[in-house]
Amino acid sequence: MEVVRDFLELAKNRYSVREFSSKKVEKEKILKILESAKIAPTAKNKQPIKIYYCTDDEKLKLLNESSPCEYNSQLMFVITYNLEECWYNSHTGIPSGIVDATIASTHMVLEAEDLGLGSVYIGAFNPEIVREKFDIPEQNQIAMLLFMGYKAESSEPSPMHETFKSDEELFDELKIR
Ligand SMILES: Cc1cc2nc3c(=O)[nH]c(=O)nc-3n(C[C@H](O)[C@H](O)[C@H](O)COP(=O)(O)O)c2cc1C
Repeated sequence: MEVVRDFLELAKNRYSVREFSSKKVEKEKILKILESAKIAPTAKNKQPIKIYYCTDDEKLKLLNESSPCEYNSQLMFVITYNLEECWYNSHTGIPSGIVDATIASTHMVLEAEDLGLGSVYIGAFNPEIVREKFDIPEQNQIAMLLFMGYKAESSEPSPMHETFKSDEELFDELKIR
């Protein structure tokens, strides 16, 4: 039977998981998550991203020392981009790397959801500590961490998950000045 997938339903099911189970994530699932990052669009197809991951306890613990967010994640990613490789957008003056890295991360988060895993973006971390502990080249800017894994049985969305600004605040039709 054909599985009908509704993208909005998948996106609505996602929430920031802050309590992971201790179950390890299978290698096939990790490979699919990485593939979802690989096929993400990047400006001028420069693909300036480099994504590091770890699953073993020693590295998870070391990486988690860079962040106050202790959620028992069993699969952690360091999302980086190379400032020299990314497209420098002379129209806007903004290098595309952080945008490319963010799009790839969102692919990964939604792929994880599709695979029955939970995830959370981690902006609260010290990049210097990550760099000091791991072999990440100087030219790779660290955009964020992603924590993933199976959700703990007691995991549930925080109240912030359901808190939205009004549509009027968020959206507007363009008006000619
Ligand atoms: C760029 C970014 C950085 C974030 N950093 C953290 C973080 O360091 N720790 C954390 O627990 N959640 C973090 N979050 C999760 C947000 O708090 C969460 O997405 C938001 O409150 C909405 O909740 P929801 O993801 O459950 O819908 C981050 C989210 C984004 C997009």
